[in-house]
Amino acid sequence: MANHSHEKVETNISLMAILIAVVISFGGLAEIVPLMYQAEAIQPLPGVVPYPALQLAGRDVYVREGCYNCHSQMVRTLRFETERYGHYSLAGESVYDRPFQWGSKRTGPDLARVGGRYSDDWHRVHLSNPRDVVPESNMPAYSWLAGSPLDGQSVTAHMRGLRALGDPYTDADIAGAADAVAGKTELDAVIAYLQGLGKHAPRG
Ligand code: HEC
Repeated sequence: MANHSHEKVETNISLMAILIAVVISFGGLAEIVPLMYQAEAIQPLPGVVPYPALQLAGRDVYVREGCYNCHSQMVRTLRFETERYGHYSLAGESVYDRPFQWGSKRTGPDLARVGGRYSDDWHRVHLSNPRDVVPESNMPAYSWLAGSPLDGQSVTAHMRGLRALGDPYTDADIAGAADAVAGKTELDAVIAYLQGLGKHAPRG
């Protein structure tokens, strides 16, 4: 009897395909589902809060300009990485990152710990023309950011959207968003975003 039913599976390719999919799904679910409930993967680290308006706007520019094509934001658990960048990245640092910016492409250095490494003025010059501070740099110049004002309405709408997805923005955060970016440029926003990166990473 047992042999007979096995033969049915082996001679019916559609049935076999369905059963293979079922078996593989179990493997996938066993890996994915626990992660969705594991506190360390979904709870923010102490001090990690949703991005304030200016940083959120800067993050949008970062994603729009494709900075992730050359920069990862994930320090791996390898000695030479932790010695260069600092503590390896933890899931609880990026619970408010949608989409996350971990990546593996590193034409430039990892940026997960870049906050506070340089002054705002250094970034201002570097983003406008990297060669002015790092002569051998092949990073593109983003000179137009300094002349692009931020749009308060779009930041406000973005915060509302994130709140709908569960990010704990308060009414005051959202009401104050437009004022927080008034008179600021996209360059100011990217710098604020970069200076916040890794601020709540564990020491070491
Ligand atoms: C074509 C690849 C490329 C792209 C795209 C790129 N970068 Fe870079 N970036 C580099 C390289 C290479 C370096 C190292 C040389 C230097 O400092 O300029 C670098 C360095 C940096 C540094 C200094 C990091 C450190 O630890 O010294 C920052 C900050 C930075 N980039 C931010 C950005 C931002 C923000 C964007 C998007 C607006 C961006 N980069 C886009 C290649 C790139």
